[in-house]
Amino acid sequence: MTTTQPILILGGQGKTGRRVAAHLTARQLPVRLASRSAEQPFDWYDESTWPATAAGIDTAYLAPPVGPTGMTQAGRFIQQAAAEGLRRVVMLSGRGVGSPGRDFAVYESNLELEHTVKDSGVDLTIVQSSWFAQGFSEDFFLDYVLAGELRLSAGEGGEAWIDLDDVGEVMTAVLLDDRHIGQTYVLSGPRVLTLPEIAAELSTAIGRPVNYVDLEPEEHVAELVAYGVPAEDAEAVRDLFAVIRNHRSEYVSDGVQQVLGRAPRDFRDYARTAAQTGVWSA
Ligand SMILES: NC(=O)c1ccc[n+]([C@@H]2O[C@H](COP(=O)([O-])OP(=O)(O)OC[C@H]3O[C@@H](n4cnc5c(N)ncnc54)[C@H](OP(=O)(O)O)[C@@H]3O)[C@@H](O)[C@H]2O)c1
Repeated sequence: MTTTQPILILGGQGKTGRRVAAHLTARQLPVRLASRSAEQPFDWYDESTWPATAAGIDTAYLAPPVGPTGMTQAGRFIQQAAAEGLRRVVMLSGRGVGSPGRDFAVYESNLELEHTVKDSGVDLTIVQSSWFAQGFSEDFFLDYVLAGELRLSAGEGGEAWIDLDDVGEVMTAVLLDDRHIGQTYVLSGPRVLTLPEIAAELSTAIGRPVNYVDLEPEEHVAELVAYGVPAEDAEAVRDLFAVIRNHRSEYVSDGVQQVLGRAPRDFRDYARTAAQTGVWSA
């Protein structure tokens, strides 16, 4: 790959994008961070921001927006950018996309986006990931942890939560090596944990109780909407949790080992490290 053109990071300020950008910058590779508040002003829903974002770009990392409307916009952007010269895309997707038992709009739109990006003609690598452990420290589960109550609708189901630092390393390795073109990697952490087990791990790491409160799926949507989450996104979250609730996420995947040649980090190490940053001290 050429190192003179910047690598476009779509969702550059986000949880995966900023990790990828940090790795690339550390290697002295130029990046173009694109989001509403980034150096390259970019909005998935404002197409007037798209041409400048894609101009002169050969390679992009795509962290798509959540939800069907956003996924459609992401597909349209990649199609347009490919027509303007975009050649190589590494795309984040959800673990289980394209697998049976996930007949929810959020999974179908994600699968449709995978197909749209493939059909755009770019050299594509898809990286499907399980749920991020850092959701509990860098995203909307943080407030639940601070309140001591994880109010979610996972029932007794488990997930193999992945450390985002592993995702960032995998994405970077894949971006920098064309041997990954055409591959789909599936990432997860090394063990399946239910939400009560997550609550116990967090309690130990933080040193104060964190409990799991199991919500009915519609109750979960109502609480998210009351919190300010748009209805479409709240329903997408409900459906993602339905997959956990239905015990369909209780398996580990070996993508980290395949790409990095080492095992993924455990949730316990994540929780210990995050606790040391003071993020849960408030
Ligand atoms: N959470 C999980 O456990 C998980 C697991 C597997 C896959 N995923 C997938 O991960 C993707 C999200 O990636 P991420 O977690 O790295 O991102 P993220 O942290 O959710 O956010 C990415 C960035 O998108 C920007 N953004 C928000 N609205 C925007 C808009 N209208 N136009 C342009 N940029 C906008 C924001 O920056 P600005 O405010 O500056 O715009 C934000 O920093 C989703 O597709 C999700 O399905 C998530």
